Amino acid sequence: MSSNSTLSVDNKAVELAVKEGTIGPSVIDISKLYGQTGMFTYDPGFTSTAACESKITYIDGDKGILLYRGYPIDQLAEHGDFLETCYLLLYGELPTAAQKADFDYRVTRHTMVHDQMNRFFTGFRRDAHPMAIMVGCVGALSAFYHDSTDISDPHQRMIASMRMIAKMPTLAAMAYKYSIGQPFVHPQNDLDYTSNFLRMCFAVPAEEYKVNPVLARALDRIFILHADHEQNASTSTVRLAGSSGANPFACIAAGIACLWGPAHGGANEAALKMLEEIGTPDRIPEYIAKAKDKNDPFRLMGFGHRVYKNYDPRARIMQKTTHEVLNELGIKDDPLLDVAVELEQIALKDEYFVEKKLYPNIDFYSGITLKAMGFPTSMFTVLFALARTVGWIAQWSEMIEDPSQRIGRPRQLYTGAPLRPYIQETLRA
Ligand code: CMC
Repeated sequence: MSSNSTLSVDNKAVELAVKEGTIGPSVIDISKLYGQTGMFTYDPGFTSTAACESKITYIDGDKGILLYRGYPIDQLAEHGDFLETCYLLLYGELPTAAQKADFDYRVTRHTMVHDQMNRFFTGFRRDAHPMAIMVGCVGALSAFYHDSTDISDPHQRMIASMRMIAKMPTLAAMAYKYSIGQPFVHPQNDLDYTSNFLRMCFAVPAEEYKVNPVLARALDRIFILHADHEQNASTSTVRLAGSSGANPFACIAAGIACLWGPAHGGANEAALKMLEEIGTPDRIPEYIAKAKDKNDPFRLMGFGHRVYKNYDPRARIMQKTTHEVLNELGIKDDPLLDVAVELEQIALKDEYFVEKKLYPNIDFYSGITLKAMGFPTSMFTVLFALARTVGWIAQWSEMIEDPSQRIGRPRQLYTGAPLRPYIQETLRA
């Protein structure tokens, strides 16, 4: 369905089409605005701009709803597994048992990475941040798998997608192993996706490793929660990079670079560091005051979201998962958890946070959980990247298959110097 809206510019009426989605806000199509008025729109941070049409993920930030292909996130996280969510995001429907078995098999067959990738790793310093390694190594995949970089070929696109979903855990585990000086552990394909990842991270050749099913299930659920999130910064980066026709490995590397920032995927690392810095519940008021102080750049990490102006639905599931993991590991009194629970209670009642609708987001609890599982903080964003890879790929594929797709090219409001003549250095005062 579509209707029209009228915009008055310099006393001239401009008719603009309004497009309606299945749910959520409609959009005003301004693509002809420049041609008709000679003006651009201005929306730093894209707070009111839909950059594309998409059928993948829907968020209602006011109600705290997140749907993948129409299915609520809590139902997917409760009943399904991560590869089922991958299938859903990529193909639009939940798989039948046969489709799921076939998909699991296809992903599993691509878990190994080219043996020469090892040399890429050894080129990095041992203390390199694993996200730096991931940006480099995922970009380098395009050099190793050149046979799946022709984006005009649907078969190559599919192979590249499988490769990335399958190889991200292997690369992420290698980045971790390299940082602690342990040998790489090859994938073992009779294990499920997440158990395989845990084994590649925590097994050593000297000992038998038994995957803890409770931890594997919890991590799998964490992957589901992070799998896609509509047109966030890293996904928009992947789409923009891909709009030029760049190969998918390079596009995902661009997404990883964007995800690294503390306002985005780096927030779980920052949230845990903040909880450690606070240390004990009695210091919470001091940090709440810092977060509210306009002259202090400090923000309560793990709080607030561009889209959610209600409790992040992923945070509820994450909180439950945190308790399950700590129970399983017999961690009864975790001081960080004490600080987190208390901080959440205080912030949820504080006028500043209530008025600005700042609720805990997914990153508030994920750090505690991942730390309890044995991951160092530097790996948190890597795990986010691993899970988000499928969302990036689904969004990238949707864009490539969209017949209206053009190179992304935002415009600007120029406020720099006007035209002026060049003056030779000797004549400059
Ligand atoms: N602590 C204190 N004040 C905050 C916070 C916070 N965490 N977040 C927002 N505010 C204030 C902000 O100062 C501003 O106040 P005012 O209107 O008086 O200037 C107001 O709330 C609106 O903030 P904003 O920066 O305009 O909101 P945004 O939509 O641009 O930013 C955000 C969203 C997530 C970057 C921000 O809330 C933030 O920095 N949060 C902490 C980092 C974090 O947890 N990020 C994880 C996001 S969820 C994972 C993901 O999707 O990647």
